Amino acid sequence: MKSSISGFYKHTVEERQSIIKKLADLTDAEQNILKNFGYFNPDELDAYTENVIGSFQLPFSLATNFLINENEYLIPMVTEEPSIVAAASNAARFARKYGGFRCEPVKSIMIGQIQIVKIEEEQIIEISQFINFEKKKLLDLANSCDEKLISLGGGARDIIVRQIKTIKGPMVILHVLIDVLDAMGANAVNTMVEALANYLEDKIPGMIMLKIISNLSIHRMAKCSAIFDTEMLGGPEIVSNIMNAYAFAQADPFRATTHNKGIMNGISALALATGNDTRALEAGAHAFASYNSKTGSYSSLSKYWVDHQGRLCGELELPMPIATIGNIIQNHPMTRIAFKILQVSKAEELAQIAVAVGLAQNIAALRALASEGIQKGHMKLHNKKLGNKS
Ligand code: MEV
Repeated sequence: MKSSISGFYKHTVEERQSIIKKLADLTDAEQNILKNFGYFNPDELDAYTENVIGSFQLPFSLATNFLINENEYLIPMVTEEPSIVAAASNAARFARKYGGFRCEPVKSIMIGQIQIVKIEEEQIIEISQFINFEKKKLLDLANSCDEKLISLGGGARDIIVRQIKTIKGPMVILHVLIDVLDAMGANAVNTMVEALANYLEDKIPGMIMLKIISNLSIHRMAKCSAIFDTEMLGGPEIVSNIMNAYAFAQADPFRATTHNKGIMNGISALALATGNDTRALEAGAHAFASYNSKTGSYSSLSKYWVDHQGRLCGELELPMPIATIGNIIQNHPMTRIAFKILQVSKAEELAQIAVAVGLAQNIAALRALASEGIQKGHMKLHNKKLGNKS
């Protein structure tokens, strides 16, 4: 089969389906699956992205038992992986006895980067002085790009001048800090840094290159903690085993990667159900796992300790550029239902929910690994489901 199909994008969805039926030798039954657009019509799908040939469905589930900052939540999750929803619901139960998850306030500040190359060491100070001298004017210029954001109370807040050493010599990197309120912020941030770059071009030494959001959003951090019931976890020995599992993830990047993947199992499933950018969240989380690491290498995003009463306490902190406004977030038929179930309208609250789901997902995985093992738990659930069906 050849992959260069001239003008594929110019066809309608139905025409693309016919082309692919021939090319991939699809059966009539397979073609009928492609023609099942679910709750969309083909034009709506075509408007989302390019070269659409169908609609891809995944389970839409709800995790139960979540008590977060004294509010009850049902958590919408979209995931193909068995056990994730059951594990999150179970772990949320372990935390209820001691008040559930407590989450800190979350700011909605994103970073826009402007890269300045072709500079000599001695010009760095010149750029720095110019930015600091002109800061108010520059922030006003950035803010003139997004009247709506400003009217709602958001906007550019600060510009930080960084220097980095690279294989292409020294560079100055401007970090424009922008309060994007309930949006993920990529559009607002990218528009503002492009406008600033245009203005700065002939006013500072060097050459301006990239102007783009950073997904390592260290000013938009979500943090939560919880105390888990020892008996529900399986007793003091399991707690001790969980501490060994945590120590392993803290010390070893090979284990930490899988440990953090487990955290993102929950966060990404919620992000997908609410129409959020799962890739931005994943990238930020894994980058932060290195950036924040006290060991100097990639490490666990969560922390665990045993308090003086012998109870297991957990804490999770990570960047959380998650939004409650945006095209898909507000207009996709399933995300609208997800938000009705969640009863959340502010990005801050969604970020708090997401970090709690991440911690729940993590403790559930650690408990399973530190006791019966993941496969046994998976199989028990799987068999139960088959039993329920028959
Ligand atoms: C599987 O999707 C996630 C786990 O591997 C996480 C972990 O090992 O902590 C179970």
